Amino acid sequence: MSSYIIEGGKRLEGETFVSGSKNASLPIMAATILNKGISKLYNVPKIHDTQMMIEILKRLGCKVKCSKNKVIIDSTNVKNQEIPENLMREMRSSVIFAGALIGCYKKAIFSYPGGCDIGARPIDLHLKGFEKLGIIVQENFGKIICTAEEINGTEINLDFPSVGATENIILVAVLCKGETIIRNAAMEPEIEDLQNFLNRMGAKIEGAGTHVIKIKGVHKLNDVSYNIMPDRIEAGTLLCSAAITGGKIEVKNANAEHIKPIIDKLEEAGCEIKIDKDTINLRAPKRLKAVDIRTMPYPGFPTDMQAIFGAILATASGTSIITENIFENRFKYAEELQRMGAKIKIEGKALIIKGARKLYGAKVKSTDLRGGASLVLAALRAKGKTEIEDIKFILRGYEKLDQKLNSLGANITAVY
Ligand code: EPZ
Repeated sequence: MSSYIIEGGKRLEGETFVSGSKNASLPIMAATILNKGISKLYNVPKIHDTQMMIEILKRLGCKVKCSKNKVIIDSTNVKNQEIPENLMREMRSSVIFAGALIGCYKKAIFSYPGGCDIGARPIDLHLKGFEKLGIIVQENFGKIICTAEEINGTEINLDFPSVGATENIILVAVLCKGETIIRNAAMEPEIEDLQNFLNRMGAKIEGAGTHVIKIKGVHKLNDVSYNIMPDRIEAGTLLCSAAITGGKIEVKNANAEHIKPIIDKLEEAGCEIKIDKDTINLRAPKRLKAVDIRTMPYPGFPTDMQAIFGAILATASGTSIITENIFENRFKYAEELQRMGAKIKIEGKALIIKGARKLYGAKVKSTDLRGGASLVLAALRAKGKTEIEDIKFILRGYEKLDQKLNSLGANITAVY
């Protein structure tokens, strides 16, 4: 089992940069199979989840060449429309291939993605959207078989602005007849990146970033080159690494527009922040002030930053209340923080954090991707040595996080 050994207590100072967005890369990599040709993707983060997507693309029949953060996908000969069950189980977001397979081949077979560490993660909104588009959805022995004779554009109202459901419906609609309108669509920036990528391929989509997205079906798409947007959650995580250690950081290749709620909360907690085009400068106080957080769909405070704020507020002065409104089980990291001296109580959807003077190094386990990142940040502040087990979760979503933090003065040793 791989782990991080972290000697805490150092102020982080210096400059670092944000890698490409995990949550923009995954749907865009799936979308490449809509065009039977070549897609060149740049600024793709080299992380476990993108490597899994490459594995699935190959199993579907694509040829994939990678070098550093460039991925070239030749999807001319996709001959298999079934997402391998073991890969589906390992990475539930591979369900995004369903929309692209149905959109191009009118067929997709996949198993229920199943829950993960943060919740049940149902896909009912995806399947309801498919059925509204005229797709036949059958289930047997845990497999879902989606087929369609003809797919006709229609109007779809989402019960909840689900990111994955919005993306999957867009992918089905790109090549179908007529116009599809998605109402109550998710507004996350990653959906705008997917729209920009698809329009570069020749699709006709408008409205991403708002609650109403219109997709006019086209007959053909073309080869494309595309640069993935920066990862807004990594940007927030890097800023918080300086915030928790009373440090000073310059984060390059960041899009401040995408993380306004995070910047606002860091300023409320006492950080000084200056934005200069795609660089964000943060200077932290010795001790943060307590703030309250409520996670909401974009443009509200992102649920993916909830655990990270749980860590930085653990040593703030005063009591903070964090309310998680998106996922039903996203407080698992709190128990691990308590081992480090954090004073945290869970009351339903709320986490009540009484700021402690100090955290202490301990042996802890990362419970999920963002929970693992929160333990890294807590360990940077804690007195003494922390061992974080199961860092495979962290490696899913952060490219070279330990190296980036060490370049800012942290002392992290990865043990594989
Ligand atoms: C995406 O997950 C992100 N993942 C998540 O990031 C992120 O937390 C989430 O959006 C919310 O912003 C990727 O983009 C790969 P949802 P997704 O569908 O699409 C319920 C990370 O750490 N729901 O918007 O799965 C669901 O249970 C990951 O990078 C249904 O009920 O999120 C949840 O409560 C974690 N039925 C809520 O909606 C459905 O059919 C939000 O889910 C779909 C979702």
